[in-house]
Amino acid sequence: MRILAIESSCDETAASVVENGRNVLSSVIASQVEEHKLYGGVVPEIASRRHAEAIVGVVSSALDEANTQLQDMDAIAVTAMPGLIGALLVGVNFAKGLSLASGKPLVPVHHLRSHIASNYISNPDLQPPFLCLIVSGGHSHIVMVEDYTKMKIIGRTRDDAAGEAFDKAARVMGMPYPGGIHLDKIAEQGDPFAYKFPHPHVTGGKYDFSFSGLKTAVINTVHNIAQKGGEIPVADISASFRKTVVDCLCEKFLAAADELKANKLVIAGGVSANSLLRKQLADECKRLGYGFYMPQKSLCGDNAAMVGSQGYYEYLSGNIADMSLNAAATASIE
Ligand code: KG4
Ligand code: ZN
Repeated sequence: MRILAIESSCDETAASVVENGRNVLSSVIASQVEEHKLYGGVVPEIASRRHAEAIVGVVSSALDEANTQLQDMDAIAVTAMPGLIGALLVGVNFAKGLSLASGKPLVPVHHLRSHIASNYISNPDLQPPFLCLIVSGGHSHIVMVEDYTKMKIIGRTRDDAAGEAFDKAARVMGMPYPGGIHLDKIAEQGDPFAYKFPHPHVTGGKYDFSFSGLKTAVINTVHNIAQKGGEIPVADISASFRKTVVDCLCEKFLAAADELKANKLVIAGGVSANSLLRKQLADECKRLGYGFYMPQKSLCGDNAAMVGSQGYYEYLSGNIADMSLNAAATASIE
């Protein structure tokens, strides 16, 4: 079964053709990041306009690169929630148009579910149930994936998402948007024990995260050094910050796995590209005898291949929309 998938939830316009949920025939991504960089973050109005300009070309390229055409598709999957509403609407309306014109079923996909599905592409033998840590620019969740379309939230961030904290820490040290990847690289040169940043304490939800206090601690540290006229030790601060975030994520994720007796652990989302997170969890899972799965780095960020993968399982579970489908800025993964 072949699915044409479309993604436009944030700042990448993407389209892909995926066969049977696991085999990617094409994956095209038009990134707007260079333009948003000028403003230090995504400007929603610009994002919507750029999606509208790019979508026809991106979808045509995805079909061309897969050597196929719309008539040969079995369904059209699209990210419908959550994300920037104006950005999502471009993809949703385009997908509705294609579905109406071709008569192919329209499959709405939840953005975070699609991040999880990037793992089905990178790890062909992976099947639910498993426990997943989803860490992106907008969300940080621990989710029990009971089945491909049945999920339960075990923990979530109370404030900033992990990616957001990375980006804000990177920004205060002068790195370009999105700073997570730059901070990750620079951290490799630094001492992770040079600075002691607070491990956020969260009352209530045992597996909930909080990153805003940590983010503020980094910002204050940088400002204090700058005010005294000192040079910012960017590598050491980056390494110490990265270690603190990764320790927090690993600690809660592994504690949840222990309590839920989950022995298959999966990571997903933009921050799952983080080198320390990947290494630390791989080492811990090896030590504990858990199976550990992660997406290949090229599938950690936003792309449409993961939408085609999740779309396949949504289709099989009967999640098919009609022309009343609307985009939603917020929506639970459950
Ligand atoms: O999943 P994603 O592409 O978009 C959202 O759905 O939000 O995640 C983007 C986030 C950004 O905050 C970006 O800085 C972060 O993922 N990110 C990283 C790394 N690569 C991307 N954070 C830490 N280390 C990385 N290597
Ligand atoms: Zn994403």
